[in-house]
Amino acid sequence: MKIVTAYSGGLDTSCMIPWLSENFGGAEIIAFTGDLGQGEDLSAIRQKALNTGAAMAVVEDLREEFIEEYIWPAVMASAVYEGMYPMHTSLGRPLLAKKLVEVALAEGADAVAHGCTGKGNDQVRFEVTFQSLAPHLRIIAPLRTWELTTRESEVEYAVERGIPVPVTLEKPYSIDQNIWGCAIECGEMEDLWTEPPEDAWIMTKDPSHAPKGSVELIIGFDQGIPVSLDGRPMSGVKLLEYLNDLGGTFGVGRIDMVENRVVGLKSREVYEAPAATLIHMAHTELERITLDRVTFNYKRKVSQDFANLIYDGLWFSPLREALQAFVEESQRTVTGEVRIRVSAGSARITGRRSPFSLYDEGLATYSAGDTFDRTTADGFLKLYGLPYKTVAQIRRSAGQPEFARRKNGAAK
Ligand code: ARG
Repeated sequence: MKIVTAYSGGLDTSCMIPWLSENFGGAEIIAFTGDLGQGEDLSAIRQKALNTGAAMAVVEDLREEFIEEYIWPAVMASAVYEGMYPMHTSLGRPLLAKKLVEVALAEGADAVAHGCTGKGNDQVRFEVTFQSLAPHLRIIAPLRTWELTTRESEVEYAVERGIPVPVTLEKPYSIDQNIWGCAIECGEMEDLWTEPPEDAWIMTKDPSHAPKGSVELIIGFDQGIPVSLDGRPMSGVKLLEYLNDLGGTFGVGRIDMVENRVVGLKSREVYEAPAATLIHMAHTELERITLDRVTFNYKRKVSQDFANLIYDGLWFSPLREALQAFVEESQRTVTGEVRIRVSAGSARITGRRSPFSLYDEGLATYSAGDTFDRTTADGFLKLYGLPYKTVAQIRRSAGQPEFARRKNGAAK
């Protein structure tokens, strides 16, 4: 038997290599590690997989594909889960799962495995993708069944098999980082009232230690996709690295939220997403001037559905394809630039411009040069208010109260 397993280099997935082999009749294990911009030494991770008993260890740089095919669609869609989380993890999982399948097919493997726990969302994203792309592959999720249920038993298992266990007093957090952000869970943050300790943060500095003053930056978009910084064209990888760095230095993009997981429970999540925060902010601002009112507001509803389906592991689904087609069409005129002023812990829009801007200064001005015909407002309002005038008249003649007030506790 041949098994391709997702490999991060951490303790769980390292124990999985011998465990899978031992529990599946000496199966041959292929470890797969994707570079999503997590900033780790991937050649060392590859070597560790081989030292741990993998017959083969594949490392692939997925950063460009991750950005072009997953992050940019999420930006275009303004997909932010429950209004706060830019979903670096939720977007990364379907891509990793897809690559695992590709390796499995190329190597003629029988099964794919992942190191997700039974109470998280990531198992959902991996397994829905596996089923969508290669329904014949067997799926193995050791963490849901194995006997290594405590950290102590895992360490013991690892030591017995010569797997290096970090000797340093490791931080008690579960971390998942890539180029779109970072998630930090567990430890004392499981108490919702406890402020995340300063040592929990990875990508961002404490805003109170940020540089004095502020800096200005200009993000340029072409049809909804960020393409330039301060007027200079820039690759996605470079742009995200730059914005993570700059935003991180100023402590921008810290998120502390309680979210609803797919598997039914609420969890406290601390995220860092400097680049994602700045880019979503700028992108939405550009839509404010380039989209007409109904499209802008309709798209906000689509954003929520799009965010939910990404979070829920349904990237490889017909609904994602259909919504993405709508979103891409909506971005045809979302081209232009947005200027942002970044200072300690904050980012503020200070300017926006676009060749497709629908803002008409002549119509908007209260100064000389006004082109808005005020006299048309009179007729407009007669018709616009007509339904409510009618409702009030009917209620009055039927002896009903006109319009409801608060039901409970309102002052008389
Ligand atoms: N709660 C987030 C999500 O479901 C982040 C999960 C982070 N995963 C992890 N293994 N630490 O997308």
